[in-house]
Amino acid sequence: MSARKHVLVFRELPDDQLARLRAVHDVTVANPKVPAQRAAFDAALLTAQGLIGSSYPIDRGLLEAAPRLEAVSSVSVGVDNYDLAALHARGIVLCHTPGVLDETVADTVFALLMATSRRVVELSNLVRNGEWTKNVGEDLFGFDVHGKTLGLLGFGRIGQAIARRAALGFGMPVLYHARRPVDLGAQAPELQARAIHTPLDELLARADFVVAMLPLSESTRGMINADVFARMKPGAIFINGGRGATVDETALLAALDGGRLRAAGLDVFAKEPLPLASALRTHPRVTPLPHIGSATHETRHAMAELATTNLLQALAGEQPTAVYDTASA
Ligand code: DGY
Repeated sequence: MSARKHVLVFRELPDDQLARLRAVHDVTVANPKVPAQRAAFDAALLTAQGLIGSSYPIDRGLLEAAPRLEAVSSVSVGVDNYDLAALHARGIVLCHTPGVLDETVADTVFALLMATSRRVVELSNLVRNGEWTKNVGEDLFGFDVHGKTLGLLGFGRIGQAIARRAALGFGMPVLYHARRPVDLGAQAPELQARAIHTPLDELLARADFVVAMLPLSESTRGMINADVFARMKPGAIFINGGRGATVDETALLAALDGGRLRAAGLDVFAKEPLPLASALRTHPRVTPLPHIGSATHETRHAMAELATTNLLQALAGEQPTAVYDTASA
């Protein structure tokens, strides 16, 4: 049996997953974002061999304060909070949670498609506010979703789950832009001839909905800028379910106010939680969500379970189920 190690949990984990960790390791739970727990977090870093959590930047400085660290397990699929080069240089294993959240995030993105196009939040508020005093007229009509063209920026597992909903459920032609065409015959045969790899310019010109599902890296930061919005079809709806910082938010507001975009549905923002002063918070044609892509009971539990399994495997010297290749950064 391997020796007990020290694990630092830096964001809450479900009790059953904490129990799995405690059965084999010594565990400290301390969230550095909670001022009262900061000192405990800093102290635990000094001896931590495993870290598990999410939504906190694990940068070079923090890693330097953790001299015994062997493995970091993120309860997220995105790894933009981690200094990949520093982890790689130290030989620290990074694990994440791909696969278990795809369908849930796709549901959230589809909720935003429907909400923006059919003006669900705005019209629900009209009823709540006691303003439903006559039949809704043309000024409050929405636009159809079914049959419209979907353009996906990014076509990983989540993009493909969105494409399935669109193509098979809503009869939507699907265009996608990715670095290279996906082998749909092998990965998603049901999308063959239904989702078409398309040059960016053509996708932007044809899509009624442009959905961004891009990971954040130095090559995608600010990629959806004024030039990209200007090339979208007039009246398009923009949805972001990937990472906020892939979008130039000033350019997005200009595209909404200038009339190029009909609406935007946003689950992610450059700065989260969204600052009160952000014009995106109250813009009448923006449907903002508080980064809830994967936030269902079932899926957050599945993510915590996979992250816990990954960490237990890594600390036992085994190959984790889902390891991120930090060398590829
Ligand atoms: C992820 O897993 O990366 C989601 O965005 C939740 O953080």
